[in-house]
Amino acid sequence: MKQMRVDKFLTECGAGSRSEVKQLLRKGLVTVNGEIVKAPEMKLVPGVDTVTCEGRMLCYEPFEYLMLNKPSGCVTAVRDNLHPTVMEYLGTGHKADLAPVGRLDLDTEGLLILTNDGELAHRMLAPKSHVDKVYYARVSGCVTEEDVRAFAEGLEIGEKRPTLPAKLEILISGETSEILLTVCEGKFHQVKRMFEVRGKRVLYLKRTVMGGIALDASLEPGQWRRLTESELALLRQNAGM
Ligand code: URA
Repeated sequence: MKQMRVDKFLTECGAGSRSEVKQLLRKGLVTVNGEIVKAPEMKLVPGVDTVTCEGRMLCYEPFEYLMLNKPSGCVTAVRDNLHPTVMEYLGTGHKADLAPVGRLDLDTEGLLILTNDGELAHRMLAPKSHVDKVYYARVSGCVTEEDVRAFAEGLEIGEKRPTLPAKLEILISGETSEILLTVCEGKFHQVKRMFEVRGKRVLYLKRTVMGGIALDASLEPGQWRRLTESELALLRQNAGM
């Protein structure tokens, strides 16, 4: 494990924001290997050096795994000049390299997984991993059994190859229809484009499941929580790790 500044270590362990951590150091409330440390630039080795803050031992976890119920109106990016980003809903005390796994459109809501575990993120997004994503959508127009068959066969949406078989379940069929769609790819605007070639328009889109992990129903849009150990194990398994 590489060396890390003590102030960064403290922030990433959730001891506080950058300015709170500076205060804790200044007040002499942080020790490294039993010695009080006041200099924020002091270097330590996570997992090797013993760090306490206000008498409590801090345990460094290299990776973070979160689920966010992404609200509409924010971009799935770490930085953006125009719109709020999903990162703005997470507050402070996270790993500096935390990033979303894949993207949801500006107006799409629902399950977004974020991690700084590059290998897991890569595996989840690799086309050959075929990680399932389930979407709930309200669609203009009457979704029919013919659509179900067309989605199952694969659709030409202007890519090199047709989409892979997707499972379309009709919840309500009417002037406005409600559906669940399971896809195992992640093409740009995929769900909207699939309905577009069937002459229908997605009015509302929400991802409910990714890699076997369901969006926690208790999370309001904009709220997040850490993944549990069993969710993480399932995600790893579904990403082929
Ligand atoms: N498909 C879309 O069209 N948009 C999303 O945000 C996700 C999947």
